[in-house]
Amino acid sequence: MTEVTWKTLDLINEATQFLASREIENPRLETELLLAAALGIRRIDLYLQFERILQAGEVETFRAHVRQRLNGCPVQYITGEAGFRLLDLEVTPAVLIPRPETELLVEHALPLVEQGATTALDLCCGSGAIAISLATEATSLHVTGSDLSSEAIRVARRNRDRHDLNQRLHLVCGDLFAPVGTDVRFDMIITNPPYIGSAEIEDLQPEVRDHEPRLALDGGADGLDVVRRIVAGAVDHLTPGGHVLIEVGHTQAEQVVDLMSGRQLEATVHEDLADIPRIVIGRLG
Ligand SMILES: C[S@@+](CC[C@H](N)C(=O)[O-])C[C@H]1O[C@@H](n2cnc3c(N)ncnc32)[C@H](O)[C@@H]1O
Repeated sequence: MTEVTWKTLDLINEATQFLASREIENPRLETELLLAAALGIRRIDLYLQFERILQAGEVETFRAHVRQRLNGCPVQYITGEAGFRLLDLEVTPAVLIPRPETELLVEHALPLVEQGATTALDLCCGSGAIAISLATEATSLHVTGSDLSSEAIRVARRNRDRHDLNQRLHLVCGDLFAPVGTDVRFDMIITNPPYIGSAEIEDLQPEVRDHEPRLALDGGADGLDVVRRIVAGAVDHLTPGGHVLIEVGHTQAEQVVDLMSGRQLEATVHEDLADIPRIVIGRLG
C-alpha cells in the first residue's frame, strides 16, 4: 500500500478543518502551534516550510497532539509553552496556564518600580509568570517568588534559568509567607492566588477543571481562604508605603477591599479589559 505523503500546508489545512468541526475555538492557530511543536520549530518558521514533505514520524507525532487536544487537554500543556507578556514560558500540568488578566496585574506593578520600589514578592508564583515578567521588565527590581507546590517551583526555576535571571529572582517553596521568613519586608507583594470557590470548580470549563492543578484554583468555600491569609500577612511583610496587588474573582473585589480596610491598607479597585473589577491594590499607610 502506498503511504500518503503530506506537505506542511496541506496538513495544516486539513487539521484546521478537522479542529473547527470539533468546535475548537481557534482551529488554525492551534493547528499551527501543535504542528510546530511536533516538528520542533517555531510557529513562524512553518510559514517558510509550507511545501516541505513531512516524514511519517512527524505526522504521527502531530496526530497524537491533535488527539490529546480533542480529549480536552489545553494546547499549552501539549506544546509545553505559554506566552505571557514578553515571555515564552515552560508550562506543565503542575502549573496554571498564565492568563491575560494577570498580564494586567504586572502592568499595575511596573509604575510602582518607577516610584521607587526595589523589592517584590510574588506569592503563589506557579510557572513564575509574574515574577519573571517583573524581573525582566523592571531591571532594577529584586524579586522573590514562592509557591506551595514543589513541582511548580521546579518549573519556575527552569523558566528563571531560561531567562537568565538568577541574580535578581529568588524562588522558594512553602506556604505563603512561611519560606521568606518573618522579618523580611518588600516594597510590593503581588499575587494571583487560587480564588475559585470550591463548589464552583465543577462548573468550570472541562479544559480547566480536568487539566489545571486543583491547588491553583481552589480558594475554599467562598474562594477567599488564601486571599484572607495574604491580606492578614501583608502588613507584616510590607515596607511603610508598600503595596499589595491581588488578582480576584469577578464578584470578590468589594469583599477584598473590606478585608484590606480592616488591616490599615488603603484599597483601590481596577478593572480588566472586560470591565470586570479584577485587581485590588492596597497601600500600607
Ligand atoms: C492561580 S495560580 C497562579 C500561578 C501564577 N502566579 C500565574 O498567575 O500564572 C495559584 C498558585 O498558588 C499556589 N498555591 C496554592 N496555595 C498556596 C499556598 N498556601 N501557599 C503558596 N502557594 C500556594 C498554587 O500551587 C498555584 O501555583
